[in-house]
Amino acid sequence: MDENSPYSFQERSHIELRADTYTLPSPEMRKAMYNAEVGNDGFREDPTVNKLEEQSAELFNKESAVFVSSGIMGNFLSILAHCKRGDQIIIGDQSHIYTNELGGYASLGGVYPAVIKNETDGTMDLNSIIEELDPYEGSDEDIHLAQTNLIALENTHNSCGGKAIDNNYFNKVQSIASNKKIPIHLDGARIFNACIALETSPSELTKHVDSVQFCLSKGLGAPVGSLVLGSKSFTEKVRKWRKTIGGTTRQAGILAAAGLVGLNKYEESIKRDHDLAKYLEQKLLQIDNISVEPVQTNLVFFSINSDNPIEISNKLKEKGINGGSDSNRWRFVPHYGLTKNDIDYVVKNMDELINQ
Ligand SMILES: Cc1ncc(COP(=O)(O)O)c(C=O)c1O
Repeated sequence: MDENSPYSFQERSHIELRADTYTLPSPEMRKAMYNAEVGNDGFREDPTVNKLEEQSAELFNKESAVFVSSGIMGNFLSILAHCKRGDQIIIGDQSHIYTNELGGYASLGGVYPAVIKNETDGTMDLNSIIEELDPYEGSDEDIHLAQTNLIALENTHNSCGGKAIDNNYFNKVQSIASNKKIPIHLDGARIFNACIALETSPSELTKHVDSVQFCLSKGLGAPVGSLVLGSKSFTEKVRKWRKTIGGTTRQAGILAAAGLVGLNKYEESIKRDHDLAKYLEQKLLQIDNISVEPVQTNLVFFSINSDNPIEISNKLKEKGINGGSDSNRWRFVPHYGLTKNDIDYVVKNMDELINQ
């Protein structure tokens, strides 16, 4: 246990690198939760939830915001609010919405995915988007084809290596989409990581999209929650769908209080995570039989040259390190609570297990 860690031994008995969703709430968050002023959020009477929603909307310069339980719920409700049954959404083949959210938009929302290949930088080819948006190629509507009513993008792009996508791209997608009056939804689970990497603000980086979902429970370190942002009429639809699926919360100010602490400190915490990720990248680069993908944000992807990655992963676990997998491409995610000493310990053990 590294004495520089903010956690006590009981709270952290191992080094957790699987995701930034493993953060434990900081002492400041716990205090804010304890002291939170609460009310019935089902009737919009929870002052702390209201404050979080207002502050988020202001930060992103969107009309309105709704607190939801998770990133997946935020993306799902956004799709339901933008689309009707039988509509089609354009999504990337590596996007979290397509690969990791159980296809809820299809099974529960009746919405059909038009899947476009993600490039290595997380974008989708603009011509491929145009083709999906204009399947009739200028001729009369074809009864065989579903109507595209949403484009979903992701920033940072998780599976594409935590890449931050800049405004240039969003600007281009918007000009294509607005011709056809098709809205854009952004899965911004890690939008703050993109903002820090690109040295820009949340409002600037999301000005070309109609709706955004961002997570409080990743690098911001809060225990629960996401915000969905957009126009007032859009967030009202999100609220109704949230109610429909039983997602309305009551005295959720206890959770929103932690979210507010995370939001107010996002620059500090995300910069810290990025610095730690860079430190990890530099250390891994010094080890034989590991190829590290260029690190831009907090996600560190690398390949290990081994016939038996699961064995290495299991042995790391015995050393108190969680993070390996059964494939050769691994992802380590530094976050609040981890220190440079932890990274040194991890890298030393990796070197010993892979190279000796
Ligand atoms: C890009 C992306 N979107 C959405 C989510 C879903 O967030 P949650 O786990 O809060 O549902 C994740 C989770 O890791 C993610 O990486």
